[in-house]
Amino acid sequence: MTVQIGMLCDRIRPDERMVIEAAKKKNIELIVHNVDEIVFDAFTNSETKFENVILQRVMSYFKSMHITALLENADTKVVNSFNAATICGNKLLTSITLSKAGVPTPKTVVAFTEESSLKALEKVGYPAILKPVVGSWGRLIAPLKDFDSARAILETREFMYPLYQVFYIQEMMQNLIRDIRCFVIAEHAVAAIYRYSAPGEWRTNVAKGGRAEVCPITSEIEELAVKATKAVGGAAVGVDMMESPNGLVVHEVNYTTEFKATAESTGVDIAGLVLDFLVDMERH
Ligand SMILES: Nc1ncnc2c1ncn2[C@@H]1O[C@H](COP(=O)(O)OP(=O)(O)O)[C@@H](O)[C@H]1O
Ligand SMILES: [Mg+2]
Repeated sequence: MTVQIGMLCDRIRPDERMVIEAAKKKNIELIVHNVDEIVFDAFTNSETKFENVILQRVMSYFKSMHITALLENADTKVVNSFNAATICGNKLLTSITLSKAGVPTPKTVVAFTEESSLKALEKVGYPAILKPVVGSWGRLIAPLKDFDSARAILETREFMYPLYQVFYIQEMMQNLIRDIRCFVIAEHAVAAIYRYSAPGEWRTNVAKGGRAEVCPITSEIEELAVKATKAVGGAAVGVDMMESPNGLVVHEVNYTTEFKATAESTGVDIAGLVLDFLVDMERH
C-alpha cells in the first residue's frame, strides 16, 4: 500500500520541488497543502483532515509555528516539532539551549535599551554583531565595529518593531576559516558543506552570495551536529557551525532548511532521506 505523507508549504521553492520529485520516485503519496488556502479549526481540526505525518516547509517562523501547534493539537506528527521549531527559530532560545547542553556557541549578551547595550558591548568587546532574535538569510544582522557605529545602529532600531529592540549581541568570531552546514536526520549526519562568503561580505549565507563546497563529515562534525540537534529536539535540521582556529562553534540550527545547495554539491539525496524518515515515522 502506498504511504501518505503531508507537506505544508506557502511557496514551492526548488527544495520543495525536490521533495515532490523524490516522493514520485519512491511511490509515496505526498499531499501538498498550501497553508494560505486552509482555514484551521483551533479546537478540533475536524474540518480539515491531515495525514499522520507532515513535513513542515512554511517559510515564516510565526506562521509555521502557529500551524504546527494546530496540527500537533490534532495529533499529527510534524517535522520539525513545535518545540524544536520554537527554539530553532529564535536565536536567543537557541543560544540558551545550546549552551545548557554544553555545545560550544559564541558568547552572547542581551539587552533592551541603547544604553544597556552600549554597556554590554564594553564587556563583549568590539567588533560584535547585532542579530534580530527571529530572522534568516543574514538579514538585519549588523556588525558593530566601534562605539559610534554601535550607537548609530542601535538608535535606528528604536523605530522598528519591538522584536528588533531585543538586542541580541554576539562576539564576532575572528580569523574564521569557513562555515560548515551539516544536515542531520534522525540523529545521523547525512551531508555537509563548507560555506565561504562572497568577496567583501562576511556572512556566508547563500542569500548573500555564499558559495558551497563539499565537506567531509568528520567524527568531530558529526558528534557536534548530533549533540546540537538533540539539544533542540530536532528531527531533520541543518546545523550551522563556524570553523575557527580554536575549533568548531555552533551558531544556528535551521528547522525548515533550504537543502538544494547541499544536495547538489554533495550528491546526497536529502529530500529522499527526509521522506524515508517520515515514512518510518508513519509506520511506527
Ligand atoms: N558570531 C559570529 N562571528 C562571525 N560571523 C558570524 C557570527 N554569527 C554569524 N556570523 C556569520 O553571519 C552569517 C549569518 O548569521 P546567522 O546567525 O546564521 O543568521 P541567519 O539566521 O540570518 O542566517 C553566518 O552564517 C556567519 O557566516
Ligand atoms: Mg544562518
